[in-house]
Amino acid sequence: MKRINIAIDGFSSCGKSTLAKQLAHHLHYTYIDSGAMYRAVALYVIENGLVIDGKLDKPNLLRVLDRIHIGFKHDDATQRSETWLDGHNVEHRIRGMEVSRHVTLVSPVPEVRAKLVQLQKAMGRERGVVMDGRDIGTVVFPDAEVKFYMTARPDIRAMRRYNELKGRGVVVDYASVLENIERRDDDDLKRAADPLLKAPDAFEIDNSDLTSSEQFDIALGHVVKAIGVVTEA
Ligand code: DC
Repeated sequence: MKRINIAIDGFSSCGKSTLAKQLAHHLHYTYIDSGAMYRAVALYVIENGLVIDGKLDKPNLLRVLDRIHIGFKHDDATQRSETWLDGHNVEHRIRGMEVSRHVTLVSPVPEVRAKLVQLQKAMGRERGVVMDGRDIGTVVFPDAEVKFYMTARPDIRAMRRYNELKGRGVVVDYASVLENIERRDDDDLKRAADPLLKAPDAFEIDNSDLTSSEQFDIALGHVVKAIGVVTEA
């Protein structure tokens, strides 16, 4: 059966990764969370003294950028792909609020984007990839056979993220989660380099009032049209 790439873009906490994982599992494709790579760079700058008075020390980041190693490894125990930074598993650390607060320092930097986009393009070369992010259908895989642009109301997205963090035992209040989501939306829309845009050929899914299985059925319908019938995994 023809293998394709699937691009999923949208704001933070739009359910992109839920859909991406469902599709990857169903199709036996590789799921790649491009946001994790931006989070790994944010963790790097936090841990290496490259944030001074809340500002990024960009000259020093650019000096070391080529030497920062970011990748994914499959964990057989959890059956999940985990994010690695310079030889360390950082999957847990990149999901906290501190990284969420700092990621907008690094995500607009063109050199950071160029490095990560190059890595992401290489990951999709053999096809059979579902990747989620902000610029996947427009910049990383402009030739993806199927593209989705996901949306949901900000209050719904903040509540989902709040519940997810609480579920992982993170102490956080709803107002700061909403504030962080709104700030990252603003960065996604306004940054000069690769802002969040709906690709002209993307299918838009507003999942504010959809269950994840309803959303999956809609998305799978589009995928099936692109590659032919897919049987149950
Ligand atoms: O998907 P996420 O919330 O984990 O992404 C973390 C941050 O990285 C988010 O604030 C936007 C940024 N990002 C990006 O600029 N481009 C991508 N392809 C993916 C994420």
